[in-house]
Amino acid sequence: MADDRRIKIFDTTLRDGEQSPGASMNQAEKIEVARALAALGVDIIEAGFPIASPGDFEAVRAIASEISGVSICGLARCNDRDIDRAWEALQFAQHPRIHVFLATSAIHREHKLKMTTGQVVERAVASVKRAKSYCADVEFSPEDAARTEIDFLCEVVEAAIAAGATTVNIPDTVGYATPTGYAKVIRTLFERVPNIGNAVVSTHCHDDLGMAVANSLAACEVGARQVECTINGIGERAGNAALEEIVMALKTRYDFYGLTTNIKTERLYPISRMVSTITGMKVQRNKAIVGQNAFAHEAGIHQDGMLKERSTYEIMRPEEVGVPKTDLVLGKHSGRHALRDRVTELGYHLDDEQLETLFNDFKSLADKKKEVYDEDLAVLIEKHSQDVTPHWKLISLHTTAGTGVIPTATICIRRPDGVIVKDAAIGDGPVDAIFKAVERVTGITANLREFGVRGVTAGKDAQGEVSLELEVESDDRTFRGRAASTDIIEASAEAYINAVNAILTRRERDQPREVIGRPGAGA
Ligand code: KIV
Ligand code: ZN
Repeated sequence: MADDRRIKIFDTTLRDGEQSPGASMNQAEKIEVARALAALGVDIIEAGFPIASPGDFEAVRAIASEISGVSICGLARCNDRDIDRAWEALQFAQHPRIHVFLATSAIHREHKLKMTTGQVVERAVASVKRAKSYCADVEFSPEDAARTEIDFLCEVVEAAIAAGATTVNIPDTVGYATPTGYAKVIRTLFERVPNIGNAVVSTHCHDDLGMAVANSLAACEVGARQVECTINGIGERAGNAALEEIVMALKTRYDFYGLTTNIKTERLYPISRMVSTITGMKVQRNKAIVGQNAFAHEAGIHQDGMLKERSTYEIMRPEEVGVPKTDLVLGKHSGRHALRDRVTELGYHLDDEQLETLFNDFKSLADKKKEVYDEDLAVLIEKHSQDVTPHWKLISLHTTAGTGVIPTATICIRRPDGVIVKDAAIGDGPVDAIFKAVERVTGITANLREFGVRGVTAGKDAQGEVSLELEVESDDRTFRGRAASTDIIEASAEAYINAVNAILTRRERDQPREVIGRPGAGA
């Protein structure tokens, strides 16, 4: 019998999270995250939106085929093409789920869909039935539910359940709800929808007013039993409810909520790091649960209290969420065994060949810096999951810069056909000069949309990670490049070349992305 005090965790990092600007992941990265989510103990992984692009489709299909022991879900709008495509991607999953959505609020009906309430109900019912013809586990979301007239919301939810929906998700698509107001919507559904007991009621809250977690928890208090959330709260606009915050609130305040999850909380911190490294989206220092300061006690009076009795100022133990006591890992004498252990603890899954490559990279890094930290390893691992063909490869570079000199860069690059070419350029600074030299050699012109450098760890010998975004007008999209080195000038060159390689890989694959409405993106 189902435990009615257990909250199912539905993770949408790979769908709602991934669709937010700057968070896109390639297929290898998505599989890595999906594996870590399964190990974390989530109940459902929303792996993507298969109709959105061939890349999304392939990623959902790969995750459905490779990851077991957890439900794999694919998103679809309420139309036959989307639903058929979602099933095509999901069919090999051990536990597939199709998630269909259709907007129900007056604003969306009138301005976006141009449909009457009757038409919306009819379309929702037909779509749930079509999804149901493929698999037993079907979720229905009335998009913008939190702003939908309550009578109509009850009507559409009842109809979706009658058509076979096993989960009804109530999205606060635009992050407009308040905890009391959202809980009232959920309570009303329990009071007024006669067949509500035949489905799990789910929350899906966006964080535009900073209330996504509070809203989700308020809904759990009145009977919701699934929470849709993302690692680090990434997602459309201000993001989704943060998984780690939901889970730790339920765990730490079990006395209040009396609800449980299946999450192995000691895996929260490693997966937060993994998602942050892969997407390049930094976790703010003071972020609850996984921020760098979340367990740091600075004030003297607090430190004094902590030394006397931890519970004076600590409501959770850092170990509970997997914050390492010290993340100093390895040095130049460490062997393959120690490396493999550490990599597994960080939540990565590498085969022997990948481990060997990592070991070589690790040894070169350990030669340059004495202490190799977890973050250093994560960056080295991610280096190899950039799913691009290495068309161009940096062989060497030389820059001159300083006060009163014209910044100049000379680069030596291997062309895709193996020929080594050299060129030089001047620029506003050494990095600009390198980018211009790469542009001259490769013939690829692009606008630099974003450029950022972060220290991977503390210390003067720390690696600097450069992430940048190039915009190519003719391709009408942006391409990311990332690289790390103890020399940030070299990292900048590598990152730029990686982005150029991403452009070429894209052109090679020649898969134009279908421009479709994204939920919650004003579509
Ligand atoms: O925010 C939203 O409404 C969504 C739905 C597809 C659930 O992401
Ligand atoms: Zn959403």
